[in-house]
Amino acid sequence: MSGNSAFVIVGASLAGAKAAETLRTEGFGGPVILLGAERERPYERPPLSKDYLLGKAERESIYVHPAGWYDEHDVTLRLGVTVSGIDRATREVTLADGARVGYAKLLLATGSEPRRLAVPGADLDGVCYLRRVEDSDRIKTALQTASRVAVIGGGWIGLETAAAARAAGAKVTVLEAADLPLLRVLGPEVARVFAGLHLEHGVDLRSGVQVAEITGTGGQASGVRLADGQHVPADVIIAGVGITPRTGLAEAAGLPVANGIQADAQLRTADPDIYAAGDVANSFHPRLGTSIRVEHWANALHQPQTAAKAMLGQPVSYDRLPYFYTDQYDLGMEYSGYVPPGGYDQVVLRGDVPGRQFLAFWLSGGRVLAGMNVNIWDQTDAIQALLRSGQPVAADRLANPDLPLAELLPG
Ligand SMILES: Cc1cc2nc3c(=O)[nH]c(=O)nc-3n(C[C@H](O)[C@H](O)[C@H](O)COP(=O)(O)OP(=O)(O)OC[C@H]3O[C@@H](n4cnc5c(N)ncnc54)[C@H](O)[C@@H]3O)c2cc1C
Ligand SMILES: NC(=O)c1ccc[n+]([C@@H]2O[C@H](COP(=O)([O-])OP(=O)(O)OC[C@H]3O[C@@H](n4cnc5c(N)ncnc54)[C@H](O)[C@@H]3O)[C@@H](O)[C@H]2O)c1
Repeated sequence: MSGNSAFVIVGASLAGAKAAETLRTEGFGGPVILLGAERERPYERPPLSKDYLLGKAERESIYVHPAGWYDEHDVTLRLGVTVSGIDRATREVTLADGARVGYAKLLLATGSEPRRLAVPGADLDGVCYLRRVEDSDRIKTALQTASRVAVIGGGWIGLETAAAARAAGAKVTVLEAADLPLLRVLGPEVARVFAGLHLEHGVDLRSGVQVAEITGTGGQASGVRLADGQHVPADVIIAGVGITPRTGLAEAAGLPVANGIQADAQLRTADPDIYAAGDVANSFHPRLGTSIRVEHWANALHQPQTAAKAMLGQPVSYDRLPYFYTDQYDLGMEYSGYVPPGGYDQVVLRGDVPGRQFLAFWLSGGRVLAGMNVNIWDQTDAIQALLRSGQPVAADRLANPDLPLAELLPG
């Protein structure tokens, strides 16, 4: 196996692949070893619930790098390999087959996994989760013949797959435990817009419901029984009820874990030779003044670049504002910023909300914490500048679509 000059990355997905790329672009000449449990080379997940699921994007378009990139950049990519332990004393990781790989620096980019339904019948055939490309393939195939689809969870996975199922022509019921879909992240003012979007597209949206059981016959799911006794018949059931960060390795190695692997602004864990990035990292964000864990693509794209530079001893820290996007039917949206739970006291809407061409801002004490553009493009830089300024903005000016966002900035 390798000696201890290697930079080893656990998790060969977006975060892991970007870290490997950055090590090379920053001139690191030593061994780079990228270890991944999946059999596919690193790929991006957003298309799995959008264009790839809809059959509009080719398989080749989802990969982070072309197949030849790893050899060309002398990155040892080992797929189908699960890391089972970290020996911090000898600076080695252990693989499931017992082999050991030494590291000088280690990056944990182990991401997250779907939460499983904990109700009777959850293991029946026809109950699908969506995390990996093979999950997307399976759902795509199922949608070709499905007439009734039940989606459990009205979060990002739930709503994007509901849109795909409607596009495939199925009758769709979304079952959400909270009072509105996306309530936790958007609050009621904007969550209602997404609820309206799905209702308009013919989705039977049931919020505030509790799933009691997955019903089935002969091992095959036939529907969802709710706690109030209602039965929602379905031949395909898609569960998108959140994720859990994969912290097991870090925890077993004695690294502090709390809602993810705890890391500082350099993405360094409590062990100076071990870093964390992507979905699994709960890192200190200097601009926000708190630790956050972000479950989104842009974070998995950018954070490992900072981690890789920090592993090389560069004086960097990660302070990008969280950013994410969605596409559902004809609605495209981008969101920048961070609102802690219950952390806003005002929402300002600007533009045509019923026509779904608008901006939304979440404020606290007059300061903008987050902003979203819906079907209006090229707004992210201006929204982020507003967030970074940290200055209070008058709500009436913010709501006025005739005032360019740049003019709202002080000075
Ligand atoms: C269907 C879907 C659609 C999404 N759409 C969007 C979107 O539109 N916008 C957005 O902002 N975000 C979106 N996301 C979220 C985004 O994809 C994630 O934030 C991102 O994938 C996180 O990347 P990551 O590399 O940190 O972790 P992951 O993508 O979870 O990858 C971690 C990798 O580590 C491997 N691994 C874990 N443990 C081990 C081990 N012990 N040994 C070896 N390998 C291991 C796993 O097998 C996995 O391949 C979506 C997610 C999904 C599932
Ligand atoms: N466009 C995007 O940014 C995008 C798209 C897809 C996935 N993702 C990411 O993928 C991950 C998984 O997405 P997700 O949608 O599963 O998680 P999520 O956390 O976005 O949403 C989960 C939803 O399920 C609901 N829920 C939980 N338990 C339930 C139950 N038993 N019955 C009914 N409803 C229940 C929650 O109230 C919540 O609305 C997240 O990290 C998400 O950020 C992001």
